[in-house]
Amino acid sequence: MLIFGIETSCDETAAAIIKDGREVISNVVASQIKTHEAFGGVVPEVAAREHLDAINVVVNETFEIAKKEFNINPNDIDAFSSTVGPGLVGCLLVGLNAAKALSLVYKKRYIGVNHLQAHVCANFLESDLKPPFICLLVSGGHTQIIKVEDFNKQEIIASTIDDATGEVYDKAARLMGLSYPGGIKLDKLAQEGDKTRFQFPEAKVKENEFSFSGLKTAVLRVVQQYKKEELPVNDICASFQERITSTLINKTKKLADKHNIKTIVLSGGVAANSELRKKLFDLQNKGYTTYAPKMKFCTDNAAMVASCAYFNPIRADDSLILEAFSRS
Ligand code: KG4
Ligand code: ZN
Repeated sequence: MLIFGIETSCDETAAAIIKDGREVISNVVASQIKTHEAFGGVVPEVAAREHLDAINVVVNETFEIAKKEFNINPNDIDAFSSTVGPGLVGCLLVGLNAAKALSLVYKKRYIGVNHLQAHVCANFLESDLKPPFICLLVSGGHTQIIKVEDFNKQEIIASTIDDATGEVYDKAARLMGLSYPGGIKLDKLAQEGDKTRFQFPEAKVKENEFSFSGLKTAVLRVVQQYKKEELPVNDICASFQERITSTLINKTKKLADKHNIKTIVLSGGVAANSELRKKLFDLQNKGYTTYAPKMKFCTDNAAMVASCAYFNPIRADDSLILEAFSRS
């Protein structure tokens, strides 16, 4: 089964064609990072306009790659899918309407997809992963631990009570003067720093909760102690990264044990983080099986959307009337 996916929930315009939920036929991503860099974050109105400018080019390129490399034509596609939410509504509407229009033109089904479930499905791409497993989902907008009992049976068993992981990475980076999007830059600098130099606090919350706002404040306090030119950026980054990744992995491991599941996987933009991946893969020495999406499938992409349309679509009698939603 060939599914065409479109992703436009935030600042990436992306399209992909995926076979049977796992095999990548074509995968195109146009990032808006350069546009939003000047504003220090994503400006929703600007993002929606950029999606409008990019969508036709990205869709055409996706079809062209499929034709050139696999001799697959638009008529061979079995269904068209897109992210329905959560995300920026003005942005979501661009992808949603493009996918619905394609499904009407080619007389194929339209399938709506939840963005968070799509991030989980990024682990099925080019891999043999099967449920049951525990998934740590860490993105710009969410931090959750999800118990995936079957492809379409998922339950959130922990989540953040304040900032999301990607959000706190970006905010901490900003405090240190790193430009947007700071998460990836903070990760790079952390690899050059001393992770034992600053002891950042771990929030005392319930086993099914995360809280990162105190960590953000602690970074601010340290930054304020130094003159700008003397700021030990690498050491702050390394100490911050050590605290947040150990909190995330320890809690995930505990809940995996509690639910008696030995397979742990990562997903979401922050799944690209070097230390988080290292700590996850270290669990293999402790009897766990671990998976993380390939780097290109961590941050927003449409391959995961098409995979999710195959494995875990939003159920609806008439999916053409599905509407965009901003929050989960
Ligand atoms: O999943 P994603 O592309 O968008 C959302 O659905 O939110 O995640 C984007 C987030 C941003 O906050 C970005 O800074 C963060 O993922 N991120 C990272 C890394 N790469 C991306 N955070 C830490 N380390 C990284 N290597
Ligand atoms: Zn995302």
